[in-house]
Amino acid sequence: MANAPHIRKCLFPAAGYGTRFLPATKAMPKEMLPIVNKPLIQYGVEEALEAGMNQIGFITGRGKRAIADHFDTSFELEHQIFGTSKEKYLEDIRHVMDNCEFVFMRQREMLGLGHAILTGEPMIGPEPFGVMLADDLCATPTEDDQTKAMGQLAELYQRYQCSIIAIEEVPIEDTASYGIISGEEIADGIYQVTDMVEKPKPEDAPTNMAIIGRYILTPEIFTYLRKTEPGANGEIQITDALRLLAQDRQVLAVKFKGRRFDCGSVEGFIEATNYYYENEYKP
Ligand code: G1P
Repeated sequence: MANAPHIRKCLFPAAGYGTRFLPATKAMPKEMLPIVNKPLIQYGVEEALEAGMNQIGFITGRGKRAIADHFDTSFELEHQIFGTSKEKYLEDIRHVMDNCEFVFMRQREMLGLGHAILTGEPMIGPEPFGVMLADDLCATPTEDDQTKAMGQLAELYQRYQCSIIAIEEVPIEDTASYGIISGEEIADGIYQVTDMVEKPKPEDAPTNMAIIGRYILTPEIFTYLRKTEPGANGEIQITDALRLLAQDRQVLAVKFKGRRFDCGSVEGFIEATNYYYENEYKP
């Protein structure tokens, strides 16, 4: 097979309201909620950059300006702390800013994750790309293996050159919170997707293998998204578009290595905070 193109672009759907975190998210985007001292969205951008994706596209909505400000220079702050011991606190964000390019697009109506991804088509064009849901925070698998979920998908893409999604087994009673796949295991932890369904009740779920917020999508997904009718919650779902794609082309699902925190829930957010405090922040 010809060499696969290097995946350069990553989309960050970030238009949702974050109602589960009200009142914190009343005037602040949920993506800016910090896990210890770093906003969720920065963890996501760092993971994309580590996977080799340095063209970052945000799909935002009203009230999300703080995200654009976060990835821009703050002259007052730089001036204030220049040459002081506090400069070290800006090292990580400077690294991201120096190595990424950022594009912002607004999703004018909240018509679902699939619609958000379709909104990003003009900045993706005809190339494969990553999609990262910053609510799902993925830690490194082990100290010796630092490749996080998106990096694992990017490596697999080089081998299979098709759309690939990250999955994890969840308790069967939780299936209604996720897209659920069924498939045939073709290699250790790698499934050829045969079907997928968005947010099924436990009694309707074909398996307990849940989609996690890391995707690599080939550009024909946009054609399928345009054909996708509103599904669960009346929204255009990426799961439904991928299901159609899987009928025509290979779509893979991979059990990624490493721990995932559902930072869209208060419990997951607290677990992540404790984990990152213990494992990354504490000297
Ligand atoms: C979205 C997707 C779902 C996926 C989940 C992962 O749902 O639609 O398929 O399992 O992200 O976090 P959301 O959590 O945005 O409702």
